[in-house]
Amino acid sequence: MKDLNKLIIANWKMNPQTKKDAEIVFSKIASFLKNKKRVDVVICPPFPFLFIKDKIKNKILHLGSQDVFFEKEGSYTGEVSASMLKNFGTEFVIVGHSERRDLGETNQNINKKILSSLQAKINPIFCVGEKKRDVNGFYLSFIKEQLHFGLEGVAKAQMKNVVIAYEPVWAIGSNALREATPVEFMEMKIFIKKVVADLYDMKTANDIRIIYGGSVNPLNALSFLKEGEADGLLVGRDSLNVKKFSQIINLSVAL
Ligand code: 13P
Repeated sequence: MKDLNKLIIANWKMNPQTKKDAEIVFSKIASFLKNKKRVDVVICPPFPFLFIKDKIKNKILHLGSQDVFFEKEGSYTGEVSASMLKNFGTEFVIVGHSERRDLGETNQNINKKILSSLQAKINPIFCVGEKKRDVNGFYLSFIKEQLHFGLEGVAKAQMKNVVIAYEPVWAIGSNALREATPVEFMEMKIFIKKVVADLYDMKTANDIRIIYGGSVNPLNALSFLKEGEADGLLVGRDSLNVKKFSQIINLSVAL
């Protein structure tokens, strides 16, 4: 893979509850990132807080959203288009997160969202992950199916803008069954690369960033980046804790 910076992504989910708190967390992270190099940090706040980026200009701090709608414009009450997000300075969008899939997001809609993001020149962070693992390896077919559906119609030239996030559902959130291991991630990274190489070619597979998400914290972040060879991390809970998130960023810078 090309020598790309590690991608450290904050998924704030439906937090924090106030504009003031969002501004505080964001500006603390922004000032921590001053003079930092060799890392790309993406903050994905809820839609009402996307304005926070306007105040800070920093080359390695990027704005992401947690969802997007696939239609361009029109009568779609409650939805937000990729071009609106782009207009707000959004460079990344999380698509297909398991928490959205649980709310009814389908593989077909995820595919349309990836295509509309790419068209608007926003980089999709395409999440895949199984609910549980089985000894017969059916979870691998499940991941393959998610990848095939999600990438349908994505041109080879567009693939360099796609980030694939492996987030095993069993390792996410405070009710996680357990943490994943760096080896489990590494195996999945190889599997995802193989699926992408079969769909496109090896070069395309080598050039995309495959990142890990699920209970990432300052104690396990380095092992996913180093032993697991993750190209980045998608952080939930600890991304709202400035101290912990800064530690995770520091670990990736030091690599
Ligand atoms: P946690 O880091 O809180 O487990 O959340 C992971 C996640 O869902 C990131 O998208």
